[in-house]
Amino acid sequence: MDAMARRFFIQSVGCQMNILDSELVAAELLRAGHTQVDAIGRADTILLNTCSVRQHAEDKIYSLLGRLKEIKQERPELIIGVLGCMAQKDRHEIFRRAPHVDLVVGPGQLGQLTALIERVAAGGGPQLEISLDRIGSDRASVERSFVQFAPDRTAVRRPAPHQAMVRIMFGCDKFCTYCVVPRVRGPEQSRPAAEILDEVRRLADNGCLEVTLLGQTVNSYRDTTGPRTIELADLLYMLHGIDGIRRLRFVTNHPKHTTAALLQAMRDLPKVSPYLHVPAQSGSNAILERMKRGYTVEFYREMLARIHEMLPHAAVTSDFIVGFCGETEEDFRQTADLVRDARFKNSFIFKYSGRPGTKADELYVDDVPEAVKRRQNNELLAIQNAISLEDNQPLLGRTVEILVEGPSKVAKKRSARDSSRSKGEGIVQLVGRTTCDRIVVFEGSTELIGRILPVTIEKIDAFTLFGQASMTS
Ligand code: 5AD
Ligand code: SF4
Repeated sequence: MDAMARRFFIQSVGCQMNILDSELVAAELLRAGHTQVDAIGRADTILLNTCSVRQHAEDKIYSLLGRLKEIKQERPELIIGVLGCMAQKDRHEIFRRAPHVDLVVGPGQLGQLTALIERVAAGGGPQLEISLDRIGSDRASVERSFVQFAPDRTAVRRPAPHQAMVRIMFGCDKFCTYCVVPRVRGPEQSRPAAEILDEVRRLADNGCLEVTLLGQTVNSYRDTTGPRTIELADLLYMLHGIDGIRRLRFVTNHPKHTTAALLQAMRDLPKVSPYLHVPAQSGSNAILERMKRGYTVEFYREMLARIHEMLPHAAVTSDFIVGFCGETEEDFRQTADLVRDARFKNSFIFKYSGRPGTKADELYVDDVPEAVKRRQNNELLAIQNAISLEDNQPLLGRTVEILVEGPSKVAKKRSARDSSRSKGEGIVQLVGRTTCDRIVVFEGSTELIGRILPVTIEKIDAFTLFGQASMTS
């Protein structure tokens, strides 16, 4: 191994974009001859890929950085890097609060990471690489400064070879007033369809069965580089033709862009999963307006009706924020009504967290007490969980088709505990997903990982289906 080769550990928090970025960063570093390790204690390079969406995510990183200070004192040769959204948002602040950090690299500069690590290792001192702020420079310059990072990851062994996330667009232009994403991930830029096709073909050649297309508002995808505009629906038709790919999914949708053409593509293309994550955020028009979401609750309900009409078996999931600035109990009641009526497969519920640099933080007061946010969060969760449990009930006794993803959390914990575990083909608890994104747990041989197979459901709860593989050959 070359003398400069390093052992890196990478930890990711935040959304799927971040998980993908970490995979791409790891692929680049592996290609450059470095080695990935799964424990901080064995690493000489520690990379934290961070999230800024809520204060809590940032607090966790600062506290982890606090703990790393001592380790760095004992091993000064250790390189510590802060990557991703917090790096873009907090930049110098990170060096100020954690002077033992060597690298601060924003999500639009990840392509430089390999070179930056080398620079630090060669004694070049702390390195900061971030993209331009959205205010103060022209759009074209800001776009260029968020450099699109899409290295070839098929050259190295991928963590889950049968599944892949593929980014189809970068950034966001919606500027919802609560959201830090447009600031930290830059302007919305769609990747050319040809590039995406090429990437998915390469992944399919590598054994990938399921592709999840990623975008902050994935259904506003628009490739205008060719003679004809290619929207998400068109892209799905194009990707559908790739041999080897069995499942196509896409997240996260914006209600305004859930077009008839997209629903038609979902209905017509058997490889496209009947699953739509379309965050509503609130059921109150006053709040939706203050959030600058660009739709009313009536529009959202009509969109749901259109989805169910075209795709009667589709699973729809949503995100909600409780305790937004100025929100009243009556606003919250309207959100609860929407959750009750919509019967989402699942809802992700968040307590509002003021984010510096957003319009809400500038214009409004974060005036809903924490105790009220907590109570509303629990109330909404209870409503959603009761619905999820009821709607899973009809699946009892049914056979569903799943893609086997790997050992379940329980099995992973068990094998971590059992140091004398055999690396053979034992029977373990496995986890897979239906095309509707339902999680299925069952017992089976690890040889089944990466296979699509039928499982008969024997037990359910609100979040998980428990079953038995109908076919184990
Ligand atoms: N506070 C709380 N939740 C937020 N989200 C985005 N910004 C905030 C914030 N400032 C939630 C939204 C989004 C999800 C990814 O995170 O519901 O859909
Ligand atoms: Fe967090 Fe948003 Fe960045 Fe994803 S894009 S890591 S959710 S701040």
